[in-house]
Amino acid sequence: MRALRYHGPGDLRLQHDVREPECLPHQVKVRPAWCGICGSDLHAYLADKVIPLRDTPHPLTGETWPITLGHEFSGDVVAAGSDVSDLKVGDRVACQPTICCSKCPSCRQGAVNCCDSLGFIGLMGGGGGMSDYICVEARFAHKLPDSISYEIGALVEPLSVAWHALEQADVKPGDDVLIMGAGPIGLAVIQCLKARQMDGQIIVVELSAKRKEIARQCGASTVIDPREEDVVSRCRSLCDGQGPAVALECAGVPASINTACRAVRTKGLIVNVALWDEPVPIDLMPIVFGEKRMAAAVSLTASDFRAVIDALESGKLKVEGMITHRIKMDEVVAKGFEALMKEKDTTIKVLVDVRA
Ligand SMILES: NC(=O)c1ccc[n+]([C@@H]2O[C@H](COP(=O)([O-])OP(=O)(O)OC[C@H]3O[C@@H](n4cnc5c(N)ncnc54)[C@H](O)[C@@H]3O)[C@@H](O)[C@H]2O)c1
Ligand SMILES: [Zn+2]
Ligand SMILES: [Zn+2]
Repeated sequence: MRALRYHGPGDLRLQHDVREPECLPHQVKVRPAWCGICGSDLHAYLADKVIPLRDTPHPLTGETWPITLGHEFSGDVVAAGSDVSDLKVGDRVACQPTICCSKCPSCRQGAVNCCDSLGFIGLMGGGGGMSDYICVEARFAHKLPDSISYEIGALVEPLSVAWHALEQADVKPGDDVLIMGAGPIGLAVIQCLKARQMDGQIIVVELSAKRKEIARQCGASTVIDPREEDVVSRCRSLCDGQGPAVALECAGVPASINTACRAVRTKGLIVNVALWDEPVPIDLMPIVFGEKRMAAAVSLTASDFRAVIDALESGKLKVEGMITHRIKMDEVVAKGFEALMKEKDTTIKVLVDVRA
């Protein structure tokens, strides 16, 4: 079968000779339809930090490079294992890319996203969404109602990251929220806030002109460019002289998380969603003197996936504006990864038509 395989940084190959996976009793075999390209895929493409499997196999998949890419995907079930009762051939699904051990203390308490051996389908083995077929654990294949297209189905994963971050943020109606960075994740946070009917201000900090514009379209009440305005004083004046109750760090630059720490009000909460290549210097004094709290969010759980699918089905969650590019499998490098690097401003979510 065809699969887009990662052979190391800068080396992606569309292969036609990859062995089709066999469906185990607890799995379903899925024929992917659409698959998103994510910042983590791009990161892997540029350096070997995201997929560090050159010589050391992932503890659960046992795989090393090459591995198949794609962790944001929808498709339909073409086979169901003998132990699977709640999915059948023909069901349309969005797949949760979690790889977890199911045995460690985190897994046992339901926090599979914090598994000691956490991995992601499409980054650490187990196949990926950019292939003709993939077998996934049935508990991680979530049924899509007919009203949700395959394309939107491919957005369920990044939306669930945002949904999960808001679960950690415990935003209440009336709370003003600050979002640092309006990439796909920051934009998804705006849309999930709207879907959750949070009616406080949504203040977004972003540099790129196009992303600022999309943030406004998605429902940001104020968009601040940190090169033009002092974010902390603007946040204070917007929020009763105090600043927002919650900040979500979705930019991943040290200046941004430090701004977030200063901008939230006394007793406020900063939720770090960004992933960091290096340890990041954070000035804790604004945290200490405001008795502020810090939290973090990583990946998602099945309940986030289901909540996002429900919100999409009910029409509360609207996301069409996020898809900026649709490409074919043989265009993934030139029109996907290269565009994400060179036209960062105008490229938000690139979706791959896996069947084309
Ligand atoms: N916690 C998780 O499970 C999880 C999952 C997916 C992605 N992430 C991380 O979330 C972050 C956001 O992901 P993304 O795909 O949206 O990334 P992205 O790089 O597309 O978006 C980041 C945005 O921040 C903006 N930015 C840069 N400097 C800024 C500054 N000083 N102030 C405000 N904005 C600034 C950039 O212009 C960009 O639009 C990344 O760090 C990513 O690795 C975390
Ligand atoms: Zn992703
Ligand atoms: Zn575990």
